[in-house]
Amino acid sequence: MPPIDRRDFLKAAAALGTAPLSQALSGCAGGQSPATPQDGDPDDPATPGGNLSEAPGFDFPLVLDLPFAHGVASGDPLRDRVIIWTRITETTPSSDRVTVRWEVSTTPDFASIVRSGLQQAIADRDWTVKVDVTGLQPATTYYYRFQAFGRRSIVGRTRTAPDAAVDSIRLAVLACSSYWSSHWSGLAHIADRDDLDLVLHCGDYIYDFVDEDETVRARRDRADTADIDYRDWLDLAELRRRYALWRSDPSLMRAHQQHPWFIVWDNHDIDEGYGNELPTPFDDQSGNTTLLDTTRAFWEWTPSRPLRRHGSGEFLLIDDGRYPEPEDPRLLWRRLPYGPLLDVFGIDTQIGLPGHGLPTDSSHLAEGTSLLGRAQFEWLTQSMLASSQAGVTWRLVNNQAWIAPADIPDLVDGIATPKLGLSRWSDYAHERAALFGFLRGDNASAQRVRNNVIVSGDAHGNLGSDLIEDSALLGDYLPGLPVPNPRTGSTAINTPAGYGRLGTGSLDALTTRGASVGVEFAPSSMGRGGADELVANALSVAPDSAAAVLGARAIELALIGGNKNVQFIEWVDHGYGIVDLNAERAIFEYWWQDKLTPDAPDVLGRQMVSWAAADDSSLIARFQDQLDDGAAHGLPFAATRGTRSANPAPLDQPPRPR
Ligand SMILES: [Fe+2]
Repeated sequence: MPPIDRRDFLKAAAALGTAPLSQALSGCAGGQSPATPQDGDPDDPATPGGNLSEAPGFDFPLVLDLPFAHGVASGDPLRDRVIIWTRITETTPSSDRVTVRWEVSTTPDFASIVRSGLQQAIADRDWTVKVDVTGLQPATTYYYRFQAFGRRSIVGRTRTAPDAAVDSIRLAVLACSSYWSSHWSGLAHIADRDDLDLVLHCGDYIYDFVDEDETVRARRDRADTADIDYRDWLDLAELRRRYALWRSDPSLMRAHQQHPWFIVWDNHDIDEGYGNELPTPFDDQSGNTTLLDTTRAFWEWTPSRPLRRHGSGEFLLIDDGRYPEPEDPRLLWRRLPYGPLLDVFGIDTQIGLPGHGLPTDSSHLAEGTSLLGRAQFEWLTQSMLASSQAGVTWRLVNNQAWIAPADIPDLVDGIATPKLGLSRWSDYAHERAALFGFLRGDNASAQRVRNNVIVSGDAHGNLGSDLIEDSALLGDYLPGLPVPNPRTGSTAINTPAGYGRLGTGSLDALTTRGASVGVEFAPSSMGRGGADELVANALSVAPDSAAAVLGARAIELALIGGNKNVQFIEWVDHGYGIVDLNAERAIFEYWWQDKLTPDAPDVLGRQMVSWAAADDSSLIARFQDQLDDGAAHGLPFAATRGTRSANPAPLDQPPRPR
């Protein structure tokens, strides 16, 4: 157990009022047991207090009653612990620290509280509260809540990871969630699901600035380029406020309330420069934000568990209820073991890019520069190998940018094609080849690592692909012909929605598909525009016009026609994905919602499958590490459902964004 520092010790003692030191230690440092402050003590979370009346002129973005005005969240579950989060918001701080009580129960009515404790919210952590709740049971749904100033937060629901065999694991996947680009109906649909184990966010959770083509909504309809909630942040306070703006959306707030999340950052989350697309009263010298500010705000506002300083990928495990302060806030890559069925990895393909100015160790590569850096590359490859050697069925990597080759000509039918997000891994093709080569067996153990799934965002389009390096694309294989997806998207105009392929894979390791080391699943963006918008700009037509959709179809056809590895591409619709894993197969679902319409319905646009074991004796041969249309394997086109269902956490006050 890490030593208790003096500051934390004094805080613990202060939280406990007149309690003797031994009791202070056992109360806050030992077993996260409840402490009992004196009646009327301002440090007692049950004692009313705080500046909680929203007088006119109070302008901080929020959605629920003060002080728990941004709801609750949880994340990074392990078999015996999970991070729970909230924030104390007052109109002005009434004190330099607020004592917050937290409680975890197995039932939503808190009839059976299994863990509880105290933590103090302070300005230095932007009044956020984060507890690594320990001593939990695996594969179990829990409910949690907080108390301060005599008020209670809404109840959150979370779930620990399994450590033994389970029938299935279901995850939602999303990326690129710009508040201004979409009404986020997809987040409401995620919140409404009762059978998810985890929500993965692939990065661009927040945005530094508004895309000038995508002004779907603004806080209080103030689409004013001078407005603090409608332009790039200038300093740490504005960066923190951006997270508050995001959490003032009822759907995002509820999606955090109902499920644990696993979040990685991308360029927009950690953008330290000032760079609006819209004209503002500020120029690019006005910003005063550092990389450490951006990563600091990430750890403050997301329910993520920080890492140990030395870069081993090991979590910083806090067993005594203290706030988990990152030892090095720039370290992001980490792993969540989900029992014998799944290991979840999160990687960082952003902070190593030259723009952030950090040194890169490329000494593990025979040629080329590293995107991951040597320490992360070795951690990822060795952890994936160890996972495979331990017999874990699936490995799922939460990655930012599309990793499979997806090259398209600069111009298609005179339309400049979107390069958004396509270049990152191709700029680091040597490292991609080294990673894929390792998984194929080019490692010290000479062992192949099978059943790898990489989920990605960034390019704002729906991609499904085999994982193949550029050189393998030269292999001898005639891929199935591109055919239109028989489904319609979230709007009637988007039909047929994208292109898939006829036919299935190959067992021959010398052919393109046989060389695949896994599959990529990129379920578009939670709102940011794709080819639809770029085409619309090129043609000067509306993004939701027939001309824009036809242009996008031409780009999709060029992409699937030019890249044998790509099995599905759709670049108009937006939403999220579902990954449903069991011992036999992984199903991947693309779910779309019209981003221009509030409360838009959830539309299943495509289902793909990857098999956990090869079987060429079945009527339709099955292949590992290759992605196929579900229908090509005779699977019914129907939404998967989880095998269990947990009671939702109640919402005892109507969300009211303000
Ligand atoms: Fe993005």
